[in-house]
Amino acid sequence: MQLEHGVSLKPYNTFGLPAVADTLVRIRSDADVRRVVDHPVHGRAPKFILGGGSNIILTRDMPQLVLKIEVPGRRVVGERDDAVIVEAGAGENWHAFVAWTLDQGLGGLENLALIPGTVGACPVQNIGAYGVELRDRFDSLDAVDLVTGRSVTIGAQVCAFGYRDSVFKHALAGRSVITRVRLRLPRPWQPVLGYLDLERKRDEAGVKDPSPRQIFDWVCDIRRAKLPDPERIGNAGSFFKNPVVSAEQCRDIIGRDPEIVHYPLPDGSVKLAAGWMIDACGWKGKTVGEAGVYERQALVLVNRGAAIGSEVMTLARAIQESVYGRFGIRLEPEPVVV
Ligand code: EPU
Repeated sequence: MQLEHGVSLKPYNTFGLPAVADTLVRIRSDADVRRVVDHPVHGRAPKFILGGGSNIILTRDMPQLVLKIEVPGRRVVGERDDAVIVEAGAGENWHAFVAWTLDQGLGGLENLALIPGTVGACPVQNIGAYGVELRDRFDSLDAVDLVTGRSVTIGAQVCAFGYRDSVFKHALAGRSVITRVRLRLPRPWQPVLGYLDLERKRDEAGVKDPSPRQIFDWVCDIRRAKLPDPERIGNAGSFFKNPVVSAEQCRDIIGRDPEIVHYPLPDGSVKLAAGWMIDACGWKGKTVGEAGVYERQALVLVNRGAAIGSEVMTLARAIQESVYGRFGIRLEPEPVVV
């Protein structure tokens, strides 16, 4: 087991925040995790599991043992009449994996194109975009228990997926290292359209029956136009979750702000567009130190160059306060704050 000491985590988080890991170990297989568990010193030490670093806000150095997940591999593992099952190592880049499935002629993940991060991180926050969530395509995953060292296969029920949520943010947080994820791509393939931005693209292209590849290209175009590329501008995607309120609460808010963007949910509650609320409070383009609110999408906080975690959190708190003051809604951060 090769341990690295005093490792800068700046290149390993898409927000580009500075932090140093005391000790870091790269995980390329289940056996690598077991070597950590069996280690006389580090076996019992607190640990932090790092994927693509696209959903974390680092506010301090890391005394914990950082496990950097680099498990490789992608393959088709099974074909059935109603689905094809594909598998990827937790360290694979998510977008490259989506592109690979399309190269194999397999549709189903195209709405989730261009989401930053690794495959292993996707179930943790149940990534979602343009009408599809990971749980809609999830088959199972392999993980290694950080206490017992045992490998287990976990199904959807245990994952307890919710909106940007799963058991890996709660009972299994820091306890299970996800090493492989399997996805079920339904047969026959059916497009998921209906999302306003996608419908607009379809109208522009004048295409009635788009292919998975066309939807993939449209999603990439939409994301590139709205969201900053973390390679150029540090960010962690949406910084807050879209809050869900009761129908009554929503009527109240609409009474005061008739323009508010909202989506009724099947259970009668209503999801509000946090980006719209932040925008309405005048935050677009504002900055605290080197942390800022993206000009084209108020839900995304960005690194203007040399931001530190505490600046990002000061900005986030100021946004929370102003949204609470105007709408009476408490916004909840979406990335994991460390
Ligand atoms: N809006 C504004 N001003 C803004 C931002 C948004 O008025 O500054 C309005 C938009 O015009 C739109 C509504 O708010 O009517 C919602 O905006 P958008 O369609 O961009 O989606 P979102 O709710 O901001 C969510 C996800 C994104 C995902 C998109 C598309 C969350 C927290 N975010 O964003 O996911 O890509 O929908 O499905 O659910 C992520 O989780 O990191 C992420 C990027």
